Amino acid sequence: MVIYESVTMTKQEYQEAVETLNRWAYHYYVLDDPIATDEEYDKLYHKVVRYEAKHCDEVLLDSPTQRVGDVVSEGFSKEKHLSRMWSLEDIFNYKDLEAWLKKTYKLDSNISLYCEPKYDGASLNLIYENGKLIKGITRGDGVEGELITPNVKTIRSIPLTIEHQGILEIRGEVVIFKDEFEKINEERLKAGEGLFANPRNAAAGSLRQLDPKITAARNLVFLPYGVGENSLPHKLLSEKMEYIYSLGFKKPPLRATCQDINEIEAIYQEMVKQRDSLPMMLDGMVIKVNEIAAQIDMGYTVKVPRWAVAYKFPAVEKVTTLKDIILQVGRTGAVTPVAVVEPTQIEGVVVERATLHNFDEIKRKDIRIGDSVIILRSGDVIPKIIKVLTDRRNGSEKEVQRPTNCPVCGSELLQEDVLIKCQNLTCSARVVNSIIYFASKPCLNIDGLGNKIVEQLFHEGLVASVLDLFALTKEQLLSLEGFKEKKAQNLLDAIKNTHKSELWRFINALGIEHIGEVASKMIAQQFGLDFMRATKEQLLEIDGIGEEMAESFLEFLRVNESLVMQLLEIIEPTAPQQKGEAKENPFKGKTVVLTGTMSESRGVIKEMLENLGAKVSGSVSRKTDFVIYGEDAGSKYDKALSLGVTTLTEEQMRELL
Ligand code: IVH
Repeated sequence: MVIYESVTMTKQEYQEAVETLNRWAYHYYVLDDPIATDEEYDKLYHKVVRYEAKHCDEVLLDSPTQRVGDVVSEGFSKEKHLSRMWSLEDIFNYKDLEAWLKKTYKLDSNISLYCEPKYDGASLNLIYENGKLIKGITRGDGVEGELITPNVKTIRSIPLTIEHQGILEIRGEVVIFKDEFEKINEERLKAGEGLFANPRNAAAGSLRQLDPKITAARNLVFLPYGVGENSLPHKLLSEKMEYIYSLGFKKPPLRATCQDINEIEAIYQEMVKQRDSLPMMLDGMVIKVNEIAAQIDMGYTVKVPRWAVAYKFPAVEKVTTLKDIILQVGRTGAVTPVAVVEPTQIEGVVVERATLHNFDEIKRKDIRIGDSVIILRSGDVIPKIIKVLTDRRNGSEKEVQRPTNCPVCGSELLQEDVLIKCQNLTCSARVVNSIIYFASKPCLNIDGLGNKIVEQLFHEGLVASVLDLFALTKEQLLSLEGFKEKKAQNLLDAIKNTHKSELWRFINALGIEHIGEVASKMIAQQFGLDFMRATKEQLLEIDGIGEEMAESFLEFLRVNESLVMQLLEIIEPTAPQQKGEAKENPFKGKTVVLTGTMSESRGVIKEMLENLGAKVSGSVSRKTDFVIYGEDAGSKYDKALSLGVTTLTEEQMRELL
């Protein structure tokens, strides 16, 4: 017997079904308190889908079917926030907190403070108009970001409609929970895809997918932390936030209003304690003046509010065991030791390796295999061993021997200052790493030629030097595992696209020791295609090129003359236009430092400033005239402030022009 379930629904039943689905989803995604099973949800959802297929003109704005659009965009357009999105000043300890409170009480002694977690994700601005979510915009430079509404709609903790009239900007952080992050990375590992370094990168990357279906699959979570443009009547931030939560948004795992430093420190210590057991990554606690009127009076510096501060958590340390020390051979032949540790979770990231820098450090710290060690992971940097727990030794630990032969090709190693080097130019590790470097972004930027593929090409005997890349055929690529027509053609196209690359990229791609991107640009600018005829004296005339760099450059060209000539013939790099005298402008002859994320790549902005006659430097000193900063500017911006160097937002720079 076949039982046909009735599929017909009245309009009213449809509306009730949407309401029910939204209530179930709210309990599941916002309150973490499911009140229906997945099966029940799916069944009702499909009924709604069937009804909507027949009644396209009756589809409700807040129907869950409206969350995933079918359109894959070609790129994101820029969109201005209605009011600016700000950054936060960081403080790191109790003393900083005392100083910040003193400064703030001086502005207004009659205030209370609202404390909530600082989530580690990607910031997002939501614009609601008369109850309808109309735009989702990434933070960008704080003034404008990228319009990613279809992706934002896939995030289940963001209501598509709210009960609120007028315009309301809701700001918050999009995060990925730690367990979800691990699941994604496991899947990526299986699929042979690159792994996300941490949940923050995974959240930011998932949010900016051109295909909203990919965003939808990542289970992102939105945690509101403030409002922008609004006409809310509340006098306290804590009241405003309660109102926002009541509209259907997720509450923070911990929040409190505090009257004095003791209460603030207590809630901070509580957050530090709970941090490991919370599902999302936190990197600090944000302290905000609770009175809106006082916030308005206090106002903003050029970049941050005077009424809020981020009290960062201490970097995370864990005890683990050093299982082994492996040796890596880089493209220059430098052999570096890398610590292999017992896999350890630190803030949602499994740490398996740690840097050791060189053998002198191993000796200095007396690191032995089998030792219990404390590793530190702070932000994005590769974890490092900060302490050896010698009192935990049981005598079975093994001292680490300084290698005498290359672990890859076996040839004798040479000690050069603190570095140990393999001198064999044909050592396979050196060759593979120099091809990887040749193809990397700041070099010839060959898309699709990452570590794995280069290793595959090398081990299959298709490529033994960078020259061989240009002789690859489609048949050869198709014979490799994992290569189909499209992947093979894309790679061949990307290699072909290096033709007429900028000359500085060509020079940088050669991987000459001590000659990086900046030096390559200077050499390309100074000598153009004649760079092979540069003499030591001429090189030393360039501001920024010293003896060691000049010698390294000339020695490389002497040894590799024939290879470079052949590459020149194939690639035919484009020499830069000799710069004419730039016309008068505020940046001409000035030293400028760029920091933070800008609306365009920093390279593009750098080039623009250079064309205006500015010298773009990598570090801030008293000689710096301007620091131009974008989103998430860090220590360079702080240094500029402490040295009294003029700072400009990207927008202010453009206004000056
Ligand atoms: S408030 C006007 N609160 O941290 C104050 N930001 O370092 C603006 N963030 O761009 C920010 N959790 O993306 C605020 N509870 C929180 C936050 C938070 C995370 C992020 C936000 C901001 C960055 C500043």
